[in-house]
Amino acid sequence: MKMHTRFSLFLLIICLTLWRKCTGKQILADVTSNKLTRQHDGSYGLWSYHGVANESHASKTSFIYNGDLLMSDGSQHVDIASTVYPSLGLTSDQDHVYQEYLILQAKAVGIDGFMIEWGYMDHSSDRALKSYLTLAQRHTPFKLAVNWCDHWLASELKNKSSQEVIDVFHSNLQYLMDTMYSSPLALYHHGNPVIFWFGGGLTSGQFRALLSMPITLPPGAKPPIWIGSFLKFVATPELWEEWGNLLNGTFGWSPHGMRPTPANMSEWDFYGTVDDAVEYQRNVSKFGERCLSSGSCVLWCGSASPGFDNRGCAGWGRELRYLPRLDINNQSRSTYDSQWKYHLSSNTSAEYIIIPTMNDFPEATPLLDINASLSSLYSTLIYASRWKDHSYDVRGLILCPVWYRLYKEMQFYNMTPGINVQSLEDSLQAAKLAISQGTQTSLSKAWILIQNAKDLLDSMIKSDISEDEMKIPVPSSIMSFSLPPIIENGSYIINHTSPIYLHMAEETASILRQNNFKGLLRFQYQPLTQGINYIRVISSSETHTSDPSLKYTFHSKGLAKESKRSWRYTVKSDRSEVCKIHVNGTGKGGAWQNATVAMYKENQSWDHSATHESDLVFISLASYAVRNISLQFTVFSKR
Ligand SMILES: *[C@@H]1O[C@H](CO)[C@@H](O)[C@H](O)[C@H]1NC(C)=O
Ligand SMILES: *[C@@H]1O[C@H](CO)[C@@H](O)[C@H](O)[C@H]1NC(C)=O
Ligand SMILES: *[C@@H]1O[C@H](CO)[C@@H](O)[C@H](O)[C@H]1NC(C)=O
Ligand SMILES: *[C@@H]1O[C@H](CO)[C@@H](O)[C@H](O)[C@H]1NC(C)=O
Ligand SMILES: *[C@@H]1O[C@H](CO)[C@@H](O)[C@H](O)[C@H]1NC(C)=O
Ligand SMILES: *[C@@H]1O[C@H](CO)[C@@H](O)[C@H](O)[C@H]1NC(C)=O
Ligand SMILES: *[C@@H]1O[C@H](CO)[C@@H](O)[C@H](O)[C@H]1NC(C)=O
Ligand SMILES: *[C@@H]1O[C@H](CO)[C@@H](O)[C@H](O)[C@H]1NC(C)=O
Ligand SMILES: *[C@@H]1O[C@H](CO)[C@@H](O)[C@H](O)[C@H]1NC(C)=O
Ligand SMILES: *[C@@H]1O[C@H](CO)[C@@H](O)[C@H](O)[C@H]1NC(C)=O
Ligand SMILES: *[C@@H]1O[C@H](CO)[C@@H](O)[C@H](O)[C@H]1NC(C)=O
Ligand SMILES: *[C@@H]1O[C@H](CO)[C@@H](O)[C@H](O)[C@H]1NC(C)=O
Repeated sequence: MKMHTRFSLFLLIICLTLWRKCTGKQILADVTSNKLTRQHDGSYGLWSYHGVANESHASKTSFIYNGDLLMSDGSQHVDIASTVYPSLGLTSDQDHVYQEYLILQAKAVGIDGFMIEWGYMDHSSDRALKSYLTLAQRHTPFKLAVNWCDHWLASELKNKSSQEVIDVFHSNLQYLMDTMYSSPLALYHHGNPVIFWFGGGLTSGQFRALLSMPITLPPGAKPPIWIGSFLKFVATPELWEEWGNLLNGTFGWSPHGMRPTPANMSEWDFYGTVDDAVEYQRNVSKFGERCLSSGSCVLWCGSASPGFDNRGCAGWGRELRYLPRLDINNQSRSTYDSQWKYHLSSNTSAEYIIIPTMNDFPEATPLLDINASLSSLYSTLIYASRWKDHSYDVRGLILCPVWYRLYKEMQFYNMTPGINVQSLEDSLQAAKLAISQGTQTSLSKAWILIQNAKDLLDSMIKSDISEDEMKIPVPSSIMSFSLPPIIENGSYIINHTSPIYLHMAEETASILRQNNFKGLLRFQYQPLTQGINYIRVISSSETHTSDPSLKYTFHSKGLAKESKRSWRYTVKSDRSEVCKIHVNGTGKGGAWQNATVAMYKENQSWDHSATHESDLVFISLASYAVRNISLQFTVFSKR
């Protein structure tokens, strides 16, 4: 008896310290993993999406984004596949430093875990999932679940028989049980692994067959519960009629507007208002409450999303929709805050609030800092505190991006021969753990460690490095043609049979090889052919081999048949590519365009190993005129 009382008291204390756990209220953010960078992956991934919103009647339906293009001073990217600009600049979703930053940033504002958009085994999203499983171990408590985007796998299996499709899904489900859901980090609900099921892939018949197949569960686990998106499974009574007896609950997603646009919003087909976003949450809640009390559901999740604009992903081949971040008629009314206020005032039984998304820039839904404004992160901190009745210190929110920037600077200076960044790295590793702990004491410590790191960077590292500028015109004695180029009307003609090859003088090349650098390549180009094509610059890269297993596949939707081949492309992480600029050419007499693109120490090796002993090669399958080529470098060397 005494033992028992003591045990209850013990439980009560645990409950008080881990209040969130006992109330079950948690916040999960959706995470995507398809945007890359040249430095980290050799390509920009979906920052360079191209596509047509095939079902759209908006004023512009065809979008070509070139993540490579920079402002002429190199400071910002000017043509990214997003209508909001990330304050941290372009980042790679596959970069472990960025992934860890996302975990830190999420924890700092009261987010308890991620639901990772996942496709299938060995897909690039699986690579990210494995990495999050490793990284999150350093930041417990932090939960992970998959948001299974079944339509990705289904589209890969388009030509298979229904039984083959079910079998492949079954082996992927078993894989999830054996890996992700065997981890102590996995999200469980009363002993059941939680799988968020996005929908649009399997038919209800196939899904029923999948559920009836035996799986080996992690030790001690009950069968998974399947929580389907409101959008795909609940939005109409017919949908729930079809799916209700297969799923165990639903989750809200980003409300994205269903009103046909008036003439002054012709960029989109549909839009939503702040009131619509709140009504969407009310609809999800009403359904969730009813479903839970009738016993058909075991779990439902509300959501809160900052806004929506899918021009960045050209409506995934369909229509263009818009949910502004602020009320169009009242700029002091925030879409995101209004949804949170609804959740706080409505006192629903939702155990989870889902935030779509943490980082989906192409849909303009990211919670992360955009356009130099921390507002959605700050709102999350405020409303998470109230909803969970747990306070979060704003210093954590502020320190995360500072930590990420310093870490990236440290990695950059580490490429300077003779420079030792160890003490800076130690300071940043310690700061990371202190930020992650998130207590007042640890954040005070983190604040000091970050200040130390800044001081170390300035006083020990930057002061030990000299920066020298080099401007190189083309052609010149430093950068000359390996083969005589074809010149017409004063510009170079490049096409399938006539690339241009540039060779860098060994004296300059060896300076770049032996030091660290940041480089810019500038040129003007004029497409001479009609239709969609690209101009590409390749560099010598003997010393930079890429991982052949790194293969990212992206599909563009709704493009005209004749151009499909060149659009349905596979990007191998090819370190040698400097840029690939797509255009929809208008034929001869088109406008001249300016290009400024970056050249990185990680990628460009200046070892004359490209064809004809060249270092830069301009190529295209179409035909281009190119002029005014020049290079600019800042060389970083130890004093
Ligand atoms: C390319 O431009 C042509 C002519 O302006 C236009 O008809 C076509 O739809 C465009 N194609 C794409 C994929 O943008
Ligand atoms: C953010 O900046 C981009 C340009 O960089 C601009 O087009 C967009 O309207 C801005 N969005 C918001 C929400 O301020
Ligand atoms: C399906 O088959 C068609 C015709 O054989 C082929 O063109 C297409 O690439 C296949 N699709 C997939 C996803 O394998
Ligand atoms: C989840 O739904 C399936 C299908 O309706 C059902 O068999 C299973 O018992 C449900 N799981 C829970 C934990 O209620
Ligand atoms: C569009 O016009 C209506 C009035 O017809 C106005 O209320 C609304 O604010 C306008 N929207 C935008 C985005 O300018
Ligand atoms: C909410 O539900 C009602 C009734 O089903 C529907 O008419 C309305 O369009 C829904 N609103 C939103 C924003 O989803
Ligand atoms: C605009 O929104 C703010 C915040 O919700 C509210 O306090 C204010 O009354 C609104 N203004 C108007 C004119 O509706
Ligand atoms: C909130 O929910 C609890 C439990 O369902 C209920 O007892 C209480 O009356 C509700 N409060 C309000 C303000 O609706
Ligand atoms: C060069 O100029 C001639 C005469 O103006 C013109 O016919 C030809 O198309 C031009 N060539 C290119 C590549 O622009
Ligand atoms: C490439 O351009 C040159 C010069 O205009 C021309 O002679 C050659 O035929 C072109 N090759 C192709 C494949 O278009
Ligand atoms: C565009 O969408 C329509 C309707 O869904 C479809 O029939 C057509 O094949 C699509 N076109 C392309 C090029 O994908
Ligand atoms: C390209 O750059 C030149 C010189 O900097 C400038 O005069 C011109 O307007 C630019 N062209 C475009 C299309 O931006």
